[in-house]
Amino acid sequence: MERWSIRPYAGTLAEARGILAVEQRTFGECPYAPEELQARLGAPESHVVLAEAAGQVIGFVAGLRTAGLCGPRLEADLLAVDPSWQRQGIATALLTALRRTAGGVQALRGVVRPDNPASERAFARAGFQPSAETYGLMIYRILGFVPRPLPAWSGEVRPLAGAHEAAALAALAPEALPPAGDILAAAQRPGVTVLVATKTPDRSAETCQVSAAVELLEVHTLLYSGLWLERALAARGQVAALRTLIAAAVEEAKRRELDEVGCLAPRADRRLREALRGEGFVPLDCYRAWLAAPCETAP
Ligand SMILES: CC(C)(COP(=O)(O)OP(=O)(O)OC[C@H]1O[C@@H](n2cnc3c(N)ncnc32)[C@H](O)[C@@H]1OP(=O)(O)O)[C@@H](O)C(=O)NCCC(=O)NCCS
Repeated sequence: MERWSIRPYAGTLAEARGILAVEQRTFGECPYAPEELQARLGAPESHVVLAEAAGQVIGFVAGLRTAGLCGPRLEADLLAVDPSWQRQGIATALLTALRRTAGGVQALRGVVRPDNPASERAFARAGFQPSAETYGLMIYRILGFVPRPLPAWSGEVRPLAGAHEAAALAALAPEALPPAGDILAAAQRPGVTVLVATKTPDRSAETCQVSAAVELLEVHTLLYSGLWLERALAARGQVAALRTLIAAAVEEAKRRELDEVGCLAPRADRRLREALRGEGFVPLDCYRAWLAAPCETAP
């Protein structure tokens, strides 16, 4: 059997061509020319590991760093091994290398369809743990940039700002969110947008209340540029506020001329899934999240 090895992506056009060739033989969805792919993979948030044999790329994992409300994370965004090299432990080795080189993040995450045993096995062998919960991927594809009015909502929609507003957001889901100070800091990081729906016009008022909120992460992957709706929260009975925020997320993506807005909606969260559908999101496949801590001596 020929030998293969694992190494970090060095940023060359030849490597980008090799990645594209493997992508075309597996997913076949990348819309970019090699030069555009090279630029995307060279972005500071991109973290790519390659498998190669005889100087040719035979597999890759494309990681993407995000830094949302719950801290820095490395998404194992796209994993592929050339069909003629599968079942030799290459995906397992790529994911293990990703864990070893992740540095500076709190967690790594991959999302995998439960009907993809090869990928599930590779994540498990590399030390990732599956979520008990399953998620439905829901996508809004942007076909034009003409703005659309937001659905009726009797309050305001605006980017989160100020300590009182952050505290009001933290109170919406204290078990799931960090303290207000961390929320405020994260909401100001590049690539992160937190929109809130509120009926309190004065955000500096101590009594300010947040009816609903969405966390949006701008991502530029090998397959698309989009806003990732990472989190959607709403107080009891505030479905109209939630729908307005989802529509506002779509409008924001249009304003930035992105391709789509995506959300992994927990299967158990019917309210969110219905709100997304109501705003034109299409349900796609079901996924499980696989999580791991970074590890210098991963298996
Ligand atoms: C998923 C994929 C990356 C796995 O690559 P790979 O290099 O063959 O994976 P590994 O050799 O590390 O195998 C990992 C485990 O999966 C098992 N496995 C591999 N292919 C399998 C298959 N077709 N069916 C069932 N199990 C399979 C292996 O036996 C191994 O398990 P083991 O360690 O218990 O023996 C590869 O099949 C692929 O590129 N598929 C198309 C793209 C894709 O689905 N990507 C993942 C999306 S999340």
